[in-house]
Amino acid sequence: KKLLLIDVDCGVDDAQALMVALAAPNVEILGITCCHGNSTIENICQNVLRVLHVCDRMEIPVYKGASRPLLGNSLHAEGYHGIDGLGDVPDPNAPGLDLLQKEHAVLALLRIASEHAGQVSLVATGPLTNLALAVNMDPTFPKKIKNLFIMGGNMESRGNVTVCGEFNFACDPESACVVLDAFDCPTYIATWEFTCQNYLPWKFHDKWIIQHTRKSEFMRKISAHSMKYTEECNSDPGMDWTMGFVSCDSYAMAAAIDESFVTGSIHCGVSVELSGTLTRGMMVLDTTDKLKKKNKAFVLTKCDLERFKCLMMAALK
Ligand code: BDR
Ligand code: CA
Repeated sequence: KKLLLIDVDCGVDDAQALMVALAAPNVEILGITCCHGNSTIENICQNVLRVLHVCDRMEIPVYKGASRPLLGNSLHAEGYHGIDGLGDVPDPNAPGLDLLQKEHAVLALLRIASEHAGQVSLVATGPLTNLALAVNMDPTFPKKIKNLFIMGGNMESRGNVTVCGEFNFACDPESACVVLDAFDCPTYIATWEFTCQNYLPWKFHDKWIIQHTRKSEFMRKISAHSMKYTEECNSDPGMDWTMGFVSCDSYAMAAAIDESFVTGSIHCGVSVELSGTLTRGMMVLDTTDKLKKKNKAFVLTKCDLERFKCLMMAALK
């Protein structure tokens, strides 16, 4: 089985990505660490517990992590994910935060990576604060990780939260920078543009959401707000939103659980703009190797969309 450690800022698409992993028969999830991002850290933790509850997987340990980026305050993506991060459809039977592990997420990342050194794939679908703190606390941490999968950044300077910034990187650019410099294991990045190019048609969405299962019913409820937002407010010219929707974080997860999913990538040095007035948080691809970075990343360009649909369908069965 593939051993996964998953770091999330559990909004709607993080929940979808988690459910993809929970349904994958070839995966063992060693722990889920929570990071600020789409909502407050408390809401993020609550959301992960709700996902595990609906999937009947409460045995998976959940850890509370960073409540803010290394600098400044967190951005919250309330427009898309709702104030609580999960579409504002509270569940009175949701498990309480007392079910979180007592250990801090960063310490859990360090401990679990040490216990399974060289065997763990790390999937990060939120701002990279927990990962950066782990690197700064123990510089040997990256060496213990087998593969790193990130949803974040952009490749054509198209932003979704600032002019040039994708949410996860723009939320904590310094952490993104620390992580991209520190990890020299194979690193796969699903950027904002990549996810938009590989949208799923609305026709698929309608089939996906009405599978008459507890999980699909949960997804229908929590994603209603974000799907409405997609239809009404999204004016990104890079994608025709009348054609379909994206589950950004699920692409990084699909890459982690199925090697055949990624069918094309650019292998190059990758960095993050930290000081531009318009471009802070923008991912920069060094395709001509000017920076001579030791660590190169695979920036995804192509994937097997049929395989993706299968993984997504299975997630709500
Ligand atoms: C990313 O930002 C968040 O709002 C989503 O969960 C995803 O991780 C997309 O830019
Ligand atoms: Ca996310």
